[in-house]
Amino acid sequence: MKDNPKSKSHESAINHVSGKAIYTDDQRLPSGMLYLWPVLSSYAKAKILKIDTANLNHIPGFVTLLTADDIPGINNTGTIKHDEVLLPHDEVNYWGQPVVWVVAETEIAAQKAAEMIKIDYEVLTPILTIQDAILNNSVHGDTNIMRRGNLTTALQKSDFILTGNIEIQGQDHFYLETQVAWVIPNLEDGYQVYSSTQHPSETQAIISEVLGIPRNQIVVTCLRMGGGFGGKETQANPIAAIAALAAKKTGCPARVRLKRDQDMITTGKRHPFLAQYQVGFNSDGQLLALDIDLYSDGGWSVDLSFPIMQRAMFHIDNCYYIPNLEVRGQVVKTNKVSNTAFRGFGGPQGMAIIEQIIDKIARKLSLPPETIRERNFYHGEGETNTTHYGQEIVDNRIVRVWEEVKQKSNFESRKLEIEQFNQNHDYQKRGLAMTPVKFGISFTKTEYNQAGALILIYQDGSIQLNHGGTEMGQGLQTKMLQVASQALGVNIKRFRIMPTSTDKVPNTSATAASSGSDLNGQAVKNACEILKQRLAEVAAKVLNLDEPQDLIFEEDWIYCQSYPRYKIAFDEVVKQAYNQRVSLSATGYYRTPNIDYDPKLGKGRPFYYYAYGAAVSEVEIDGFTGTFKLRQVDIVQDVGESLNPLIDIGQIEGGFVQGMGWLTMEELVWDEQGRLKTFAPSTYKIPTIKEIPKNFNVHLLKRAAQDGVIYGSKAVGEPPFMLAISVREGIRDAIAAFGNRDFILLASPATPEAILNAIEQVQLKLVNSSEP
Ligand code: MTE
Ligand code: HPA
Ligand code: MOS
Repeated sequence: MKDNPKSKSHESAINHVSGKAIYTDDQRLPSGMLYLWPVLSSYAKAKILKIDTANLNHIPGFVTLLTADDIPGINNTGTIKHDEVLLPHDEVNYWGQPVVWVVAETEIAAQKAAEMIKIDYEVLTPILTIQDAILNNSVHGDTNIMRRGNLTTALQKSDFILTGNIEIQGQDHFYLETQVAWVIPNLEDGYQVYSSTQHPSETQAIISEVLGIPRNQIVVTCLRMGGGFGGKETQANPIAAIAALAAKKTGCPARVRLKRDQDMITTGKRHPFLAQYQVGFNSDGQLLALDIDLYSDGGWSVDLSFPIMQRAMFHIDNCYYIPNLEVRGQVVKTNKVSNTAFRGFGGPQGMAIIEQIIDKIARKLSLPPETIRERNFYHGEGETNTTHYGQEIVDNRIVRVWEEVKQKSNFESRKLEIEQFNQNHDYQKRGLAMTPVKFGISFTKTEYNQAGALILIYQDGSIQLNHGGTEMGQGLQTKMLQVASQALGVNIKRFRIMPTSTDKVPNTSATAASSGSDLNGQAVKNACEILKQRLAEVAAKVLNLDEPQDLIFEEDWIYCQSYPRYKIAFDEVVKQAYNQRVSLSATGYYRTPNIDYDPKLGKGRPFYYYAYGAAVSEVEIDGFTGTFKLRQVDIVQDVGESLNPLIDIGQIEGGFVQGMGWLTMEELVWDEQGRLKTFAPSTYKIPTIKEIPKNFNVHLLKRAAQDGVIYGSKAVGEPPFMLAISVREGIRDAIAAFGNRDFILLASPATPEAILNAIEQVQLKLVNSSEP
């Protein structure tokens, strides 16, 4: 892999590790910068009776306060639904909600003033769990339904029916760089915003609404993020809006940067899910019917909860053909943070649920779970290869990745070894599990599937590259440089990648849904092709050729295919182009073809294609402590013809480890008053280098170029996250070895406590097996 010329290091790798890479908050700040500090709500649900701000003027450096009354435009930062106040007027809806922001000359002064503000509340009873919300009919929006086939008859015909409830918990993004933004008021009522945002155009739109000025007055720029993971798709907006509001009110530059605890307390997380299902199947394990209700905890406002629920519903089948299926999705409303996008966008919840159901079927029938998985894969043509929402899976690669990982991991022989180990050890047990992933690529909001680029060539032959995507560590800029260099046939060193900015490319989509390279890559290529065509005409004249179409652009030279000796340097063509008054800048544009979805019918072709992968995880658990060790992981991931294998493998490793954190160690705990107890790394355990498996083998599927995607590559950002379901199922397999029950109840995340409880359950050897 290392000798693959496409395996370029991340374009900022050296600057990342040497500390030279500039993040939003590292920029040289203008003089007169003001700082903000929030006053957070003390209750999860309460009426605001009085805000006492007396004596603040005595604090040196205190400047002003921001309350709901200061908002000149619309007091809302909700994008899908206008239900998210930037600053509350009369009630608070979650513990930690910012009620007032203090503006001061220093951060310390702002903090001091904030501590002096007293707010009187009338405390109300909050709704804190999905179950509580269901009982109180506290919901966001209507139930979404997708269905096919005939459930009633299919259930009647099934040899077996199982029912159950599954709860999957949330996850904090824990990006290394917390939410941050700063704003300079400039010119006449213009605002330059620097924001750590995945979606600069939406940040611009929200600021425009909050300030009540048109979008062209606002420029939002994102240099790079220290991680986003979905947590900066919408949740960066209120932070930037508050900084902009302070800049507007004071006429001074203003800055918000959240401390780690403030970030964890105030920002939305991955949605917890509750599933209630009934599944019908045959004695050979063939799935016949699935009737399932999904509930997600949206928190106090809608944010992106609807498309996230929808993606969970799109992925409730994972890789399995379920002929009769009805899935109902309901987002519930609680007095918690507003949950948001997180790597996989609902897909992980949907898939973790169906994989647990599959495991339960397997144990019921005393068959290996991987056998049930294989027997139910989408296959063939037509109906058996078509999802419940009506999309046919052209180019189905499930079996390919599955067989390859099975063989590469020596699955069968290791299974026997593990059985032996388990027979010889009473208190340590090992488990092995293999799980597949099929993940739909495209924004499910069809209009988001477009992108733009802007390329500027200067007279000296140096080039600025702009596009609508943002860099959050995933290597998008590296890939875009590679695409541009390949498309224009020039050395990569000619390019300077510019910070993402709304004054370069307008109306951009979030960098999300793993489609950053797919969309922006095509737009960049398009801009290069436009420039190439113009330059080819200039070059053809110089070379005395009639046909500019024949010209090849390669390694900084332009030459004629049939007479390679007729060549001209790229720099020279650029100079000539300027002299001949030929434009040296171009915008590129792309929209994904051939996708559509009708939400009313619950049918269509929402995804341009699917990304596939499969993983085998081997774990060992300790019966005394409930801890587990991940002994070995083998992955085969389909990334098409990789744009950059080095970066893709990094994405696969990182995604997998983050998924493992979600399912096995990251536990969010709220108390009975809705106060988050786990708002620091001391109480919220994320994976570290110690938890990374010693044997971690990642393979990219070979000969896998995908038609119609940028240079045959496939999206890689989110799909590997869900491969971590194999760790959870591996742990379940190890727990099973402690007893002989026909189902294994394992809470999520599979913390030592959850594992010990599960071991206790299997050792009870109860015959009556009804899952609560
Ligand atoms: N990798 C790093 N290092 N940091 C991130 O924040 N975000 C993930 C993934 N990989 C993320 C990451 C998420 S949620 C998505 S949607 C994709 O990257 C977005 O980038 P892409 O579309 O360019 O792959
Ligand atoms: N993924 C991520 N973000 C999104 C999506 C999606 O499918 N749709 C809207 N925002
Ligand atoms: Mo990723 S959750 O689509 O930002």
